[in-house]
Order: sequence, then structure tokens, then C-alpha cells
Amino acid sequence: MGNKFYITTPLYYVNASPHIGHSYTTIAADCLARYMRKVLGEENVWFLTGTDEHGQKIQRAAQELKLNPQEFADKTVLQFRDLWKTLNISYNDFIRTTEDRHVNTVSKALEILFEKKQIYSAEYEGWYCTPCETFWTQAQLEDQFCPDCKRPLEKISETNYFFKLSQYQDWLISYIRANPGFIKPASRYEEVLRFLELNKLTDLCISRPKERLNWGIPLPFSPEHVTYVWFDALINYISAVGSFDKNGKYISKWWPADLHLIGKDILRQHAVYWPIMLHALDLEPPKTIFAHGWWLIDEAKMSKSRGNVVSPIEMADKFGVDVYRYFLLRDVPFGLDGNFSEEAIIKRFNSDLANDLGNLVYRTLTMVEKYFSGRIPEVNITAKDNQAKVIGLKMEQLDVKLGCNLGLSGDYNFSASLEGIWELINIANKYVEDTKPWNLAKENKTEELKVFIKVLVGVINKVTQAISPFIPETAASIRGQIGDREIKKGKPLFPRIDT
Ligand code: MSP
Repeated sequence: MGNKFYITTPLYYVNASPHIGHSYTTIAADCLARYMRKVLGEENVWFLTGTDEHGQKIQRAAQELKLNPQEFADKTVLQFRDLWKTLNISYNDFIRTTEDRHVNTVSKALEILFEKKQIYSAEYEGWYCTPCETFWTQAQLEDQFCPDCKRPLEKISETNYFFKLSQYQDWLISYIRANPGFIKPASRYEEVLRFLELNKLTDLCISRPKERLNWGIPLPFSPEHVTYVWFDALINYISAVGSFDKNGKYISKWWPADLHLIGKDILRQHAVYWPIMLHALDLEPPKTIFAHGWWLIDEAKMSKSRGNVVSPIEMADKFGVDVYRYFLLRDVPFGLDGNFSEEAIIKRFNSDLANDLGNLVYRTLTMVEKYFSGRIPEVNITAKDNQAKVIGLKMEQLDVKLGCNLGLSGDYNFSASLEGIWELINIANKYVEDTKPWNLAKENKTEELKVFIKVLVGVINKVTQAISPFIPETAASIRGQIGDREIKKGKPLFPRIDT
């Protein structure tokens, strides 16, 4: 494992309010950043998020509200910032593509590539999908509708600038083959490799004429054009953590990124365009790109037109921030699609949080109060107690399990990590039922009762540590209730929801 960890989320478009999909990537990134801070130390982790503010989508959304695009972006960006605050997102930096540091780096990168003759101008004719901001060539189309979103396309003919993507196809194929951990999970790795093996890459059109789109970064060698939004946005990952010097050498403490977390919808841009752009700039590709699945509503995509967009703020208000975080990370293995519903949240809440975790903490603290007047007994746990031994072993294994799942060589499997933690919680709950402490108390077996309580407190401390990247507020609340010696029992953490 390297000794630093630089993790990023996509930059979210500011044309609409954040929804649960955006919050999913960001919560997952937050969990990993928190986990890695514990492993590598605070100063060795850098967590970047931000907003994508240029392009037609934003220009149009601003026009509808009769605002200029910058004013519009300044307004919506607050919704993202507020949401991340509410959800306890511990980002180190928030970059907006309209900031000078970004605009300057994009201009510099364009200049370098132009000087290296990796960018050229040509007449362009094609079909354009405005909502997707995607050009399609005649050969890619069956009719005059966008193959992705099925909306009507506009025919366009104009002079544009192109980046020589096609020249790097062989390089990218060999790079991906030589680096099996570059794209995760494995199914996405295969998908990208197969795409590259079966299709010929065409050069990437990286400009838009100003008369069609003026909300973007001007090309330094042709101010009559602005930069295509993806070429602009991807560069955030380097513009946020470094800059090009006078000689065109990029200097950064953090690059290459260790992990770009993205949704499966933007895999092509990240796993094909981006590594080629970097390679052309003489920069290393990111270490890993992980594409997760989608949250669906009744098995369908969320969309404004369907009116089924779920607000993360509403969910967090209704169920609590940690319950929401827990649900997203626990319910679906990272990488697969999942179905989002309030019923599913309630189910998880009642079983995992109320019955298992909440119950373990509450009943343990109640016993400390009842049998030891609120003081955690002092006692050495001897190897005599068999179950205590098994529990001790499980506690040791948990760190290894989390390391395998969440560490750099792992598959970022949040749900398996939580399952591992819950295994320990359930063993502890079973330990209570098997030991029947009320009998120990009746029979005045004080030593055994002390050992029993000490083991449970040990488990709770271990669990608290392990859950803190996932559900930090809950971890803090448990820590507040269990001191070194005196306990401060609070209300049950997760009172059951009656359905
Ligand atoms: N601005 C581009 C990304 C540029 S990155 C340099 C973009 N923005 S977006 O606002 O559309 O957000 C895309 C990301 O939001 C997806 O990649 C994914 O991470 C997340 N999600 C959006 N909808 C989602 C679901 N329904 N489910 C899960 N995550 C999804 O694309």
C-alpha cells in the first residue's frame, strides 16, 4: 500500500439540485477517506469533490431563471455544499470549474497539447445531443434520435478543434492489460477493454464555437471557441492539487490520484478519454477508477420527467444522517445497481441498527448500571472463558477483513465490511443470551459477571472504531456514553420504527 491516498468524486453538474445518486458517490468517498485517515494518518489523505459549472446544460438552466450562468452556479453550488455539510462529508477541498486555479490549468494543458500538435482544427459535421452534450457521427446513428437518451438530435456543421485520441488506442489497451487494478470492479474492466478491442477510437472534438456556446473556457489558441465540458471538467483532478510550471511540467504532491470514484454512466470519459489526455501531457494515469452502480426507483432510472427524484436531504431528515449513510453503503454491494425505497431503509433500520447495534449498546450499558453502579469493572480477562476467547479472535480478524475490503488492493466492498462488523455485534448479542448474566448476578458470581461485562465493552469499543468511517455520528455518540471507567448511558440509539 502506498503511503498517501488521494480520492476524488465526480464534479457534479450544477444545473439541478443534488439527488441520492450524487450523495451515494460522495458518501462512499467520505467513508474511504475516513477509513484511510485512520490507516495512513490525517495528513496523508486528500479527498476532493466539487462542481462542474460550464457547458450548455448550465447555460440553459440559467437562462430559464433569467440569471447569468455564474450567478446561477453560485446559487446551486450552495445546495451541494449544504448537503455535504448535513451528510458529514469530510472533504479536504471543493473545486468549482469556474475558479481561476482550474481555468488556468485547463488553458495551460490545452496550450501544451496544441504545441505538441496533439490538437488540430478541422471541419466538423455531425449530430449533436444537447442534454447529453454528445456528438454523434452518422455511422453511430440509426435515426435522428440520441442513442443514449432517445431525444431528437441537431445537425451541426462547423470548424472545431480535435484531440488526437485515436493515436493512443494501442497504448491504452496495453496499459489496461498490464494494470488489472486500473478499472474496477472486474466487470467494468472487461467492459472497457472489450470496447477498445472492438471499436476504433475517433479523435475527440474538444471545442464548441462561441456563437453556439459561450459558457466555457476559451481555447488559448482560438478565443472564438470554448472548451468542451468534459475536457474541461476532467482536468479538475489535476488542477485542484497542483499546477504546470513555466516549462510545462506539472508539479503536485498528490498526483496520481489513488482512486477516482464514479458512477457507471461516466466510465468511458474516465477510463478512455482521461488516461489518454494525461498520457499526452506526460502524466501518469490515476491508480484506480471504480465505477459503481445506480440507485433505481421501482427498478427505473430517477428523472425529473418521471417525477421520481429522491432528495437526500429529505431522507436524512426523516431517518437520520447515519441511517441514510448506513443504508446506502450496506444494502447493495458496491458496483451493482440497487433499488431505493423507504421500506428497505426501515427494514435495515429495525434489524441492523435497532435490534443488533442499538440493542447491544443499550443492554450492555444497562447491565453496567445495574450490576456495577455505572462503573466499568476492572478485571483481567483470562483465557478460561471460551466464548470470550472466540470473541477476541473475531475482533482480531475484523481489522484484516476491513483492510481487505476497504484498503487499496481491495474491491471497496462496503457492504461486506459492514457484514463483518455486524458478525461481531451478533456474536456479542448471542454471548449475552448464552451467558444469562441475570443468573450470574443471582448466584453472586461477581468475577464471571465482571469478565462478561468487560468482554462486551471491549466489543463495543472495537465496533465503534470500525463503524466510525461509515456512521461517524453514531460512533461519536457511543464514545460519549462509554468512558474509560464511568458510563453515561443515553437514550437507545435507534428506537424501532413501527410499521
Ligand atoms: N459533471 C459530470 C461529471 C464530471 S467528472 C469530471 C457528471 N455530473 S452529474 O451531476 O451528472 O453526476 C454524475 C455522477 O452522479 C455519476 O457518475 C454518479 O457518480 C452519480 N449518480 C447520478 N445518478 C446516479 C444514480 N441514480 N445512482 C447512483 N449514482 C448516480 O456526470
